[in-house]
Amino acid sequence: MDVRTENRPTGMETHRKRILTGDRPTGRLHVGHYVGSLRSRVALQDKYDSFIEIADIQALTTDFEQPEVVAENVHQVCLDYLAVGLDPEKVTIFVQSAVPEIAELTVFYSLITSVNSLRHNPTIKTEAAERGYTSLSYGFLGYPVSQAADITSVGAHLVPVGDDQLPHIELTRDIVRRFNALYGPVLVEPQALVGECPRLVGLDGGGKMSKSKGNGISLSDAPELVRAKVKSAVTDPQRLHAHDPGHPEVCVVHTYHRYLGEGARGSEALADFERSCRAGAIGCAACKENLTRSLNTLLAPARERRRYYEERPGFVKEVLAAGITRVRGEAALTVSRVKSALRLVQF
Ligand code: TRP
Repeated sequence: MDVRTENRPTGMETHRKRILTGDRPTGRLHVGHYVGSLRSRVALQDKYDSFIEIADIQALTTDFEQPEVVAENVHQVCLDYLAVGLDPEKVTIFVQSAVPEIAELTVFYSLITSVNSLRHNPTIKTEAAERGYTSLSYGFLGYPVSQAADITSVGAHLVPVGDDQLPHIELTRDIVRRFNALYGPVLVEPQALVGECPRLVGLDGGGKMSKSKGNGISLSDAPELVRAKVKSAVTDPQRLHAHDPGHPEVCVVHTYHRYLGEGARGSEALADFERSCRAGAIGCAACKENLTRSLNTLLAPARERRRYYEERPGFVKEVLAAGITRVRGEAALTVSRVKSALRLVQF
C-alpha cells in the first residue's frame, strides 16, 4: 500500500509517480554524468514528478577540508542541470543542507541500521579504498543512511542511478521495510532505475571518469578545451603509426564515439570509424578531430543555455529557493508521520 500517495491532498501531482536522484557538488558535472544520468533525467521529467538534489552535505563527507569548493559547486551544478535542459517548471531542484528535515530522518533511520551493513557496503568500501582512507568518519560511513532520508523524505517511488548506487538503494529499501514492519506503514519503498549506459571511462583510460581524478570533459568546457582534452585522450597503446591496425575495443576515443558521438546518434558512421581503424585507414589524430566536432555539437546547446542562466544568477537562486520550499513541505509531513510512528512527542 502506498501510504504517501493515499494521504496526500488531492492536487495536480498526485497521479504522477515521484523520482528522486542527486549529485554531490564536488565539481562541475562532466559528459560521464551526461550519458550516465542527466540525459535520462531530461527524458524522465515529462513523465514523473522529479526531484533532483544537490547533495552538499554528502559532498562534505569526503571534501570536508574544502567547504568553499562544495559551496561554489552548488551553484555550478545547478547551472549544469539547467544547461542540459532540466526545466525548472517540471523538476524540483533543491539543496540537501537547506532541508533540515532530512537530517532529522537520518537520525531516526540510524536507530534501525546496523553498523556492519554499512561497513560491508561495497560502494563505501570501494570509495574508501580509492581515497586511501585508513579510518572512516561517522558521517562518511553513514552517508547511505542520509541518502535513505533524501529518498524517503518526499516519498520517491523510483531512484534513477548508476549501478554503483545500488547498495544504497538496497539499504533504503531495508530501512523502509524495517521501519514499516516495526511501526506501521509510513514510508514508501523505492526502486532503483538503473541506466543502460555503463560508467564512462576517463580520458586517461585508467578507470571511470571522475571529478576527483580530473580525467573528464566538463559540460561547461569551452570548445578549445574540449579539443585539447580529446587530443590528450589515451587510444590503442599498440598503435604507434597511423597505418597500424587499431583495436577500437580498447580505445577511449572509440568509447566516446559510441556513447557521445556518432554512436549516440545511431549513425552508420560509428561502424565506418571502427572498420577504418581496424584497417589502419584512419589515424588517431583524425579520429580525435571527428570526436571533437561531435562533442562540440552535442555541447553547443548546453553552453548556450548555461550562458543564459549565468547572466541571471537571481533566477537560479529563485529556482533553488522554490525547490527547497516544496521539499521542506513534503519532508515535514514525512518527519511528522515518522515521529508519530515512533511515539515521539510533537508540539
Ligand atoms: N550518492 C550519489 C552520488 O554520489 C548522490 C546522491 C545523494 C543521490 N543523494 C541521492 C543519488 C539520492 C540518488 C538518490 O552520485
